[in-house]
Amino acid sequence: MAIAIAKAFPTMMCVVLDLPNIIGECKKINNESNLKFIGGSMFDEIPHANAILLKCILHDWSDNDCVKILKKCKESIPSKHKVGNLIIIDTVMEEGLDKLISDEFDKAKNFMDVMMMTLYVAKERTKKEWEKLFDEAGFNEYKMTPLGLRSLIEV
Ligand SMILES: C[S@@+](CC[C@H](N)C(=O)[O-])C[C@H]1O[C@@H](n2cnc3c(N)ncnc32)[C@H](O)[C@@H]1O
Repeated sequence: MAIAIAKAFPTMMCVVLDLPNIIGECKKINNESNLKFIGGSMFDEIPHANAILLKCILHDWSDNDCVKILKKCKESIPSKHKVGNLIIIDTVMEEGLDKLISDEFDKAKNFMDVMMMTLYVAKERTKKEWEKLFDEAGFNEYKMTPLGLRSLIEV
């Protein structure tokens, strides 16, 4: 995804942060001059950026860890001119049982939810649960756009 973004916006500098063992492999496939790969942990420090994209990241983590990650994002985006953006692509669960079983997307979301609970100490979240995380991390505005299985959340 980072390669596609770097190609589409050649004047924008892009950075991918992932664990050092993962980054080693990624570097081998990157030919974009505006794309850098940095090895590290998002729990320690996230490189400064005008915008941060977390795609399918937060559903891997508990509420406590998500708040830690979101606070690290807040530290890394500039607040001085209020130009920073945090962009999340992740699942937003529907509330209410009737809706939960109503279509293929909802069935897939439920399946993912059970998988995240059993594989990790994690889960898929409802709108209210996302709101609580943003609030605890000190963010006060967000916009959710459903995209089917996943949603785009601008914070
Ligand atoms: C579910 S994958 C999502 C990857 C990608 N964003 C996507 O949508 O395909 C989660 C990623 O988080 C990375 N990760 C796990 N712990 C991390 C940490 N402490 N700091 C930075 N990245 C981490 C994993 O190595 C993995 O690449």
